[in-house]
Amino acid sequence: MTNKITIDQLTEQARQGGGEKRIEAQHAKGKKTARERVNLLLDPGTFVETDLFVLPRNANAQLNGSGAHFTDGVVTGWGKIDGRQVYVYAQDFTVLGGSLGEAHGMKIARLMDLAHQSGAPVIGLYDSGGARIQEGVESLAACGEIFTRNVLSSGIIPQLALIMGPCAGAAVYSPALMDFVFMEEQNAYMFLTGPEVVKAVTREEVDFNTLGGASLHAGESGVAQFLAANETEMIAQAKGLLSYLPSNNLTPPPYSPPTDDPRRPTPDLARIVPVEENQPYDVVNVIAEIADDGVFLEVHREFAKNIVVGFARMDGHPVGIVANQPLVLAGVLDIDASDKAARFIRFCDSFHIPLVTLVDTPGFLPGTAQEAGGVIRHGAKMIFAYAEATIPKVSLILRKAFGGAYIVMSSKHLRGDINFAWEHANIAVMGPEGAVNILNRRELAEANDPDQVRAQKVQEYRDTFANPFIAASRGYLNDVFAPVETRLKIIQALESLQDKRQPSPAKKHGNIPL
Ligand code: HXC
Repeated sequence: MTNKITIDQLTEQARQGGGEKRIEAQHAKGKKTARERVNLLLDPGTFVETDLFVLPRNANAQLNGSGAHFTDGVVTGWGKIDGRQVYVYAQDFTVLGGSLGEAHGMKIARLMDLAHQSGAPVIGLYDSGGARIQEGVESLAACGEIFTRNVLSSGIIPQLALIMGPCAGAAVYSPALMDFVFMEEQNAYMFLTGPEVVKAVTREEVDFNTLGGASLHAGESGVAQFLAANETEMIAQAKGLLSYLPSNNLTPPPYSPPTDDPRRPTPDLARIVPVEENQPYDVVNVIAEIADDGVFLEVHREFAKNIVVGFARMDGHPVGIVANQPLVLAGVLDIDASDKAARFIRFCDSFHIPLVTLVDTPGFLPGTAQEAGGVIRHGAKMIFAYAEATIPKVSLILRKAFGGAYIVMSSKHLRGDINFAWEHANIAVMGPEGAVNILNRRELAEANDPDQVRAQKVQEYRDTFANPFIAASRGYLNDVFAPVETRLKIIQALESLQDKRQPSPAKKHGNIPL
């Protein structure tokens, strides 16, 4: 073939993917092609493609009449994002439906090896019918090779999965093993078995979106950390996220010189957070007040909204933030919130991103659904993650920290480094009303005016137990201050911990309760 046409012609043919008609069909669905996506993602002119001339291994796949099969349905290579090296693979739906055959899989696997060995993030753009049916066990083997690399690279380099079309069958587990999954609202879906199989097995009739659409995975299943209205927005989100992440576990997170004064007072916090314990407020406003220039990149925004996690900068340094959200379910901890926070904490710990924890929670959500769902097991993940983490850990109790939630939320007892509370914070085994109902049950039952007795006992309880000074007197809190000092105090604490090193005991690995 190379004797008849020039290398330029051959290259051009290969870059056409599945050909004009299939590219048109792709555009008609509102989707970009693999190459258009890669070009949008990378700094202009930086993409270097590898393995362009790879063909499917299996003759049946090559000869099924679907046109050009160069690349074997995946565009692979490297380039730069904001001047930093990344490795990229983009499945090409115009070539054999982007399905994952042996050669396709090995291209991704080799690229992941390069990324791992070079210490640069890997970004996968997904648009595929899943394991290539014609290639049988070879395509399953290729999926497995990718999974293994996802696992071995975990905690070494950041791994991002951008789902821009179908992601079906065995293929879903690669994104699921990566650090962050992004999904596009119109065309992305992820499921193990499609609607046809669901119908055949369970007789349930369901459409693609209901079974595995972006809203489901961002909001309910928690599979996706980011939801994007379109591909352009998704790529902007991914770049935004990378700006907080180091390239690998041996490099510090990217510092960018701050424009915000580290000593800036934060008087508005006293207005944002009502003193009355039961009044809701949006903790994202608290974060914006504390963070450099009010900028916060929320992760997993649609999932377990009773806890907020994400990235910000403090005096130019990236930090991970975990905060109870009193606006949703009063900020209780539950199964999903525990999973969400634990995963985020472990990510930050893997990549040396310090954690700031903002505490305002009545505790764990009581009830049969939570107990039967395994809130003990899931809550334990959060404890494990906090206690295991060796990154700098700073916490601030804004208003209340009751019961197990006091311990769980980055307390001193889980190796928290610097722990703060605001002057009106309330730390106790349980809230005053609940405590009085238990401690004063007999008096309340015998009282002529139980409401008056209750009010008096609640006040006594508050005065005696529900304040930050008992914890401070034991050294469980390093300082108690007014909201206006918050930004400065947190930055001072983080600065003091900048070179923190805390070796973990030698062992293979712990056994996090999964
Ligand atoms: C081989 C595939 C393919 C696949 C799609 N194609 N998926 N070829 N293996 N897995 C091919 C189609 O034959 C077609 O080729 C081209 O890609 C475009 O597909 P269409 O069906 O025309 O596109 P569309 O209508 O947009 O539908 C996309 C789709 C559908 C929803 C993804 O193709 C589909 O349902 N595919 C199968 C999804 C799936 O169940 N995958 C799981 C694989 S098994 P032509 O030449 O006709 O254009 C697996 C192991 C399971 O992964 C393990 C579970 C743990």
